[in-house]
Amino acid sequence: GALILRDIGALRLAVAGWRASGEIIALTPTMGALHAGHVSLVEMAKRHASRVVMSIFVNPTQFAAGEDFGSYPRSFEADVAAFEAAGGDIVFAPAVEAMYGAGFATAIHVAGPALAGLEDRARPTHFSGVATVVAKLLNQCRPDIAVFGEKDYQQLKVITRLARDLDLDVKILAAPTLREKDGLAMSSRNVYLSPAERVAAPALYGALAACAASIRAGVGVDAALDDARRAVAKAGFIIDYVEARNAETLEPLRGVADEPIRLLAAAKLGKTRLIDNIAV
Ligand code: PAJ
Repeated sequence: GALILRDIGALRLAVAGWRASGEIIALTPTMGALHAGHVSLVEMAKRHASRVVMSIFVNPTQFAAGEDFGSYPRSFEADVAAFEAAGGDIVFAPAVEAMYGAGFATAIHVAGPALAGLEDRARPTHFSGVATVVAKLLNQCRPDIAVFGEKDYQQLKVITRLARDLDLDVKILAAPTLREKDGLAMSSRNVYLSPAERVAAPALYGALAACAASIRAGVGVDAALDDARRAVAKAGFIIDYVEARNAETLEPLRGVADEPIRLLAAAKLGKTRLIDNIAV
């Protein structure tokens, strides 16, 4: 079975023991409410490491006032069972007070033009919360490898930048997005969708997939994006953004031949905000 640890010192001790006996250690940070996408991160971690730690921590600092911190889905027992079944070793689930003690006053900002203009526009404080908690988790666990999902593509780029800029001695691995049969990207927040919204939700992926196919077939990026925006709006979404960016740097496209393109979108269906992205 997996060991459940709540204490930072206990985690450090367990990982130090593994390291002393030559094990390779992977960390998969999550906020719990696990679905098959999270489990696929554990599976990727197991292919690259001999020990896998999963953190389960609903991080208050990455939620803005009025967002869903209080109602974020929690299913700790089922999460532990799923992690165990995937062959994971330690669930690290610290209390909020253990992560943010009295007087906590530090924040990490990963900024710069390459990472601006997408999620940060609707959620200006979000990535500072993410970067700070991920830096803490990496420092608490000191894994050789940490696995993140492409589902949160801008987050993946922010964390890769953070690791490079702060010389964190960890290899960041990216796992592909797991989807439902109808194309909807798996997300802990999909449980918020009403039955009618759940039927409409795959249109976000459908529009991105059609947009990518059009661009590959030679349609101009701007025209293809306009079609995608129309399709997403027609399905009942209120759009935050549907954009094409450089897949490596996330910078706006330069419009040169052979530039790797990533399509990224965020839109609200009723009260639920969905994000998705695909490669062209
Ligand atoms: P959470 O939303 O729980 O996601 C945890 C990890 O699972 C992230 O790396 C995310 O990209 C990945 N993931 C989510 N849905 C996925 C899917 N359908 N397919 C593949 N991977 C998927 O992202 C966070 O938590 C937090 O911001 C965190 C990094 C833990 C910091 O608090």
